[in-house]
Amino acid sequence: MTQQGATKWADVDPSAIAHNTSLVKQLVGEKTAVMAVVKANGYGHGAVPAARAALEGGATWLGVSSVAEGIELRRASIQAPILNLGYTPPAALSAAVAARLALTVYDREGLALLKTASTEIGVHVKVDTGMHRLGAPPDDAVKLAVDVAGDPNLRLEGFWTHFADAKDPAFTRGQLHAYLDARSALMRAGITNFLSHAAGSSGLIQVPEAWLDLVRPGLIIYGVRPVRSWTDLPGLRPALRWQTVVTHLVTVPTGESVGYGRRFIAQQPARVATIAVGYADGLYRSASERGRAIVRGVAVPIAGTISMDQAALDVTTVAGVMVGDVVTLIGQDGDATLTADDLAEASGTISYEVLCAIGGRVLRRYL
Ligand SMILES: Cc1ncc(COP(=O)(O)O)c(C=O)c1O
Repeated sequence: MTQQGATKWADVDPSAIAHNTSLVKQLVGEKTAVMAVVKANGYGHGAVPAARAALEGGATWLGVSSVAEGIELRRASIQAPILNLGYTPPAALSAAVAARLALTVYDREGLALLKTASTEIGVHVKVDTGMHRLGAPPDDAVKLAVDVAGDPNLRLEGFWTHFADAKDPAFTRGQLHAYLDARSALMRAGITNFLSHAAGSSGLIQVPEAWLDLVRPGLIIYGVRPVRSWTDLPGLRPALRWQTVVTHLVTVPTGESVGYGRRFIAQQPARVATIAVGYADGLYRSASERGRAIVRGVAVPIAGTISMDQAALDVTTVAGVMVGDVVTLIGQDGDATLTADDLAEASGTISYEVLCAIGGRVLRRYL
C-alpha cells in the first residue's frame, strides 16, 4: 500500500527524539545544558521537527552548520538559542544577525567581520585541539576570546572545541586537556562568564569529564550510537523508519541476470521484486548485492546493482509477495529489523552518512 500516493517515505517519530534527548539530559545532569545538533536537515529527520522534539526533550540550544540552516529554524518560529557551528561568510552576516544566531569565530578575519556588524552578536570561539578542521590554535583562541570579551558589541557566549576520534578516549582526553589549559588561560585573563563545550555523542558517552557546561549530541538524539557495538544509553529509540514499495515482480530463469552490469545471475529460477528506491534516494550503490531489505517480515538480499531510482530484491524465499507490498530499508517489520548501522555496513560507510543521505524524494512523515 502506498502512503499518501508516495512510493518511498521515512516515518519520523519526534517523540523518540524527545525521549532520546531526555536520556542525554538525565545522563549529564542539571549542571550541563544540551545543544541538540540538527544540522544536515536534522541528520535526515527534518531539521524543524527534530529541533522542536529535542527542545521538548530538554535541549536548550540548537546547533547548525550554516547560517541558512539557522534561518530555517527561525522561519519556523523556533526561539531557542542557535549556534552556527560552521563558517559564516561575509555575505550571510546580516541575515545571521537578523536571525539572532550565535556565531563561531576561529580566526582574525572572522572576528573582524563580526566587528563590522556593530551590533550585539553572541560569539563562541572555537579552539583547535587536534581535529585541524575549524578552530584556532589554543593561544590564538585565547587572544580571540579576550578580544571578543573586550568588544562593546560582541558577547563571548562560548569557548569550545571538537573531538576527532570517537574510538580513542585517550586521544579525546588529550584534546580535552589542551582545551582546559586554554580555558584556564582565558580565565586567568579575567574572563569567566561563558559556556564551555566540547563533547558530541561519543565524547559525552565515553568521557564524562568532557560534559562541561554544555554537550552537543547529534546522532544519539536520533537514537543511533556512534559505534554500533556500544550499549550505552540502553533506552535509546531509533527515530526513523525508511520504507518503499514493490513496484514489479519478475521470475528470472536460471542463468539470466538482473540489473545493470548483470551482477545478479539466477542460480535457480528466482523471484525478484523491483523496489522504488535507488541511489538518488540515498540507497548507496555500494550496497548492491550486500544490503538487505525486509519484505513480509523477512530480510532478503538486494539482487544486483542498485540503480538511480530502483533496486531489486531476491524474494524467492518469501511467499506471496505482491506489487504494492511495503519494503523496509531501515526499521522493523514483523520479527525482522534492519538498522541504519546494518545499511551503513552494507554500504561501506557509517550510520551518519546513511541517515543524512536519505534524499529529498523520500517523503518525511511525522508520527
Ligand atoms: C561541531 C560539532 N558538534 C557536535 C556534533 C554532533 O556530533 P554527533 O552526531 O557525533 O553527536 C557535530 C557533528 O558532526 C559537530 O560537527
